[in-house]
Amino acid sequence: MSILVTGGCGFIGSHTVVELLSIGEDIVILDNLSNSKECVLDRIETITGKRPKFYKADLLDIDECEKVFKENDIESVIHFAGFKAVGESVAKPMMYYHNNITGTLNLCALMSKYGAKTIVFSSSATVYGMPKSVPISEDFPLSTTNPYGETKLMIERILSDICVSDKEYGVSVLRYFNPIGAHESGLIGEDPKGIPNNLLPYVSRVAAGIYEHLSVFGDDYDTPDGTGVRDYIHVVDLAKAHLCALDYARKNKGIDYFNVGTGNGYSVLEIVKAYEEASGKPVKYKISPRRPGDIAECYANPEKAYKLLGWKAEKGIEDMCRDLARWQEGNPEGYPDN
Ligand code: NAD
Ligand code: UD1
Repeated sequence: MSILVTGGCGFIGSHTVVELLSIGEDIVILDNLSNSKECVLDRIETITGKRPKFYKADLLDIDECEKVFKENDIESVIHFAGFKAVGESVAKPMMYYHNNITGTLNLCALMSKYGAKTIVFSSSATVYGMPKSVPISEDFPLSTTNPYGETKLMIERILSDICVSDKEYGVSVLRYFNPIGAHESGLIGEDPKGIPNNLLPYVSRVAAGIYEHLSVFGDDYDTPDGTGVRDYIHVVDLAKAHLCALDYARKNKGIDYFNVGTGNGYSVLEIVKAYEEASGKPVKYKISPRRPGDIAECYANPEKAYKLLGWKAEKGIEDMCRDLARWQEGNPEGYPDN
């Protein structure tokens, strides 16, 4: 019996595969490498001593994906595969709807056909839109501000409808806050293509001298120092949440939703300081205008995950920055080309 990990070569997927292999699960990765590289598999093998089975396949090609279900006894699925850049989704909405929605529909069709009716899905705190208050609980109203967020919300609804129609399904939806950091080995980490959109990959490149300075998007928010506040979570803590969520979905039919965050908010300037301390390198920054679509504060109430999944974040901001700095220093150009 194997767990299928779609998008398992990506940032969060690769860390989750390491955790799954380390508890002895059999893993099959399906990834089209549109935002990742095959050499991740070598790194996973170095860390765990095991090499996951890999299919280079696109979820949009249902025939190609059916081969994976035919050739393996897939018992459950952890579904990471999808596009994730907010700005790009605004520029190319059809590409985002097609990849994320059609890809998920194809996956679910195969899951139903082959009787693998347990799934953990990667959603995002973006489904809370502009939250009315913080911390954010799972029962807050849902809305989105961009096509990427819309795909996450639509997939949540698709999975919910599937559960109504087929009582054999068990679905855990994880709403991630801001995943950062890297594996403590320094062998796997985040490797964004081109100029990073997210804060930490940018900060680490400024400290490494790749970019001259960080633009801090706004210092006039209603927050303690005026800069945006987020709930950063170590990617290894996040990976471990998937093991608990999978266990839960195996035992509980129907769908449930969980925030995956620490419950602590840090401002952009606090992050800059934490990274400087962890890396021992300065991070130059300039205050710039607000980024359109950004909210002042976003952090989780993570209690439901603790109560029902038995999961809580263990690593602090120092661990996140230290592990990211180690990954950045060891891999200044990211992963080598295939
Ligand atoms: P990532 O881009 O590193 O990983 C996604 C993987 O999916 C990549 O390896 C990519 O090649 C693969 N992929 C994309 N489309 C595919 C397709 N059609 N068929 C097969 N493979 C495909 O992203 P990540 O940061 O690891 O995020 C994983 C998931 O978590 C995504 O669904 C993302 O939207 C979600 N998420 C991420 C964050 C974040 O900050 N990283 C926050 C909230 C939610
Ligand atoms: C962004 C996405 C969100 C996605 C999340 C995780 C937007 C509007 N939202 O959220 O949908 O789920 O990433 O992938 O893109 N910042 C700077 N300078 C920078 C980069 C960021 O000051 O160069 C600030 C931002 O204004 C924000 C904080 O840093 O206050 C975090 O930004 P980022 O890492 O992009 O994450 P989110 O905005 O939370």
